[in-house]
Amino acid sequence: MIKITDLNKTYNYKKPNAFHALHDISLEIADGEMTAIIGRSGAGKSTLLHIIGCIDKFESGSYEIDGKDVSKLSDRELSKVRNKMVGIVMQDFALIDSYTVIQNVMTPLYFAKIKGKRAKEMCISALKAVNMEEYADKPITNLSGGQKQRIAIARAIVNDPSFILADEPTGALDTKTSEEIIQLFKKLNEEGKTVIIITHDKTVADSCTRQIEISDGKIISDNRSAARQK
Ligand SMILES: Nc1ncnc2c1ncn2[C@@H]1O[C@H](COP(=O)(O)OP(=O)(O)OP(=O)(O)O)[C@@H](O)[C@H]1O
Ligand SMILES: [Mg+2]
Repeated sequence: MIKITDLNKTYNYKKPNAFHALHDISLEIADGEMTAIIGRSGAGKSTLLHIIGCIDKFESGSYEIDGKDVSKLSDRELSKVRNKMVGIVMQDFALIDSYTVIQNVMTPLYFAKIKGKRAKEMCISALKAVNMEEYADKPITNLSGGQKQRIAIARAIVNDPSFILADEPTGALDTKTSEEIIQLFKKLNEEGKTVIIITHDKTVADSCTRQIEISDGKIISDNRSAARQK
């Protein structure tokens, strides 16, 4: 479970160009929820997702994953949590162009020190989950936007994380491909993963059981209780 309490995030903290991006955020996300984070450009959605994904820090408040205070972990413990618990699909895919498909999917396993045959099997299984196994040895640069999105998802799930975080996973896709990607997230959620998706797309938001809206770094609505009654 994710529990955030009174969290504040300021970019360039204590510097003249400081920017207070998140204000007193309190939020709980239970295991197995499928949540959309919505809000205008610049609202603070990616900032919040990066904090949930343990790839960015904050100056006050607390963040607990399964009762563990993230801010008290050493850098080593934190990278372990990040690697084992969280799979992130970034806004711009963040794939490595000079790598093949399978080399991209394998990068989290390299950090987890999983190698050889087992690593390869895990990659093929992640690629199968996104229907891209035939592309394993193809260069990333040859793929379409939707195919790259699938590879970014395969890389996020390869190490079997508890949470899958996705930043605008359908932002650059046509309606049909976007629907396929959402079905993929739904399937992962049905298999037990906690899924958090940032989106501008109402169809995508509606396909999640919970919607949290952020404006100017604050949560302005959250239909969690309604979602729970469903
Ligand atoms: N590295 C940074 N340094 C300073 N300010 C930043 C940095 N990253 C983001 N910001 C600012 O923080 C605010 C929130 O940014 P964030 O990227 O979280 O927005 P967003 O809701 O994800 O927007 P979008 O929908 O456009 O992706 C914005 O005003 C942005 O300019
Ligand atoms: Mg963003």
